[in-house]
Amino acid sequence: MRNRADAPIGVFDSGVGGLTVARQIVAAMPHEEIVYFGDCLRAPYGDRGPEQLADFSRQIVDFLTAKGVKALVVACGTISARIFETVAQMTDVPIIGMVKPGVDAALTATKTGRIGVLATAGTVASGAHKAAISAKRPDANVFAVACPLFVPLVEEGWFDGDVADLVAKKYVSALENSGADAVLLGCTHYPLLACAIEKALPPGVAVIDPAIALADSLKGILAEQNLLREDGEKPTHQFYISGGKEKFDGILKMIFGQKYEAKIVKI
Ligand code: DGL
Repeated sequence: MRNRADAPIGVFDSGVGGLTVARQIVAAMPHEEIVYFGDCLRAPYGDRGPEQLADFSRQIVDFLTAKGVKALVVACGTISARIFETVAQMTDVPIIGMVKPGVDAALTATKTGRIGVLATAGTVASGAHKAAISAKRPDANVFAVACPLFVPLVEEGWFDGDVADLVAKKYVSALENSGADAVLLGCTHYPLLACAIEKALPPGVAVIDPAIALADSLKGILAEQNLLREDGEKPTHQFYISGGKEKFDGILKMIFGQKYEAKIVKI
C-alpha cells in the first residue's frame, strides 16, 4: 500500500481556472502529484447560489476522496469565498482555499492599503476578501469589481487580443479613481488574462495571483504534517472533467504539456 505522504493532492474548480493553481503547486513542489477535477459542464459557478455550490462541492469532494487524496485545494475563488467552511467540513484531510493566501499576498504588496479585487459576481457579493482584509488591516480600502465576462473568455481560450483587451479595460476602468496599488485576482480563471489586465492598469500596480501564495502555504501545511511526497517517483498528474473536453484539453496542454489529456467522468 502507498504511504499516505505519497498520495496525490486533490485540486478542483468549476473548469479550467484551477489549472492556474495546479501549475503553481507543481512549480513549488515538483515531486507532488495532482488529481484535478474541473466541472466544465456546470461552469460557470459565479452566479450560482450557496446551496447548489455546496451540492456540487460535495460530489467533487467525494470523487477526489475516492481517489485517495492526502489534501484538498479549493481552486475556485467562488467556492472559497462563499462556502469554504462548509466544504472544509466535508473532509478529514487538510484543505486550503483561495481567499486567505490571496489576501495575505495583497496586504504584503500594497503600500497605500488601497486594494482592488477582481472576481466573479458571487465572490464580490460575498464580501469575503473585504472582510478578510479589514480583519487584518482595518484602515485598508477594498474596491471589488465583478467581471462576469472574464470566465467565458477564458473558457473560450481568448486570453489575449482585442476582445480580451477591451473587456479588461472596461472592467478595470472601475478602479480608475481608486488609487489601488495592488489588484488581487479573486477568480482562478483570471491569471490567464493577466496580460490584458496588466495592460489595462496604470504602470506600477501589483497584480496578485493568489495561487503563488497558496502553493507556498500548502507546502508549509504538508511539511508540518509530514505529508510531503517522499517516494522520488516522477509524478503523473490526472485530470478529470464533467464535459467540454476539447476546450479543456487545449488549455491543459498549454499549461502542462502535450502528454496530458483530460478524462470525462460522471460524478
Ligand atoms: N475559477 C472560478 C473562480 O475562481 C470561476 C468561477 C465560475 O465558474 O464562474 O471563481
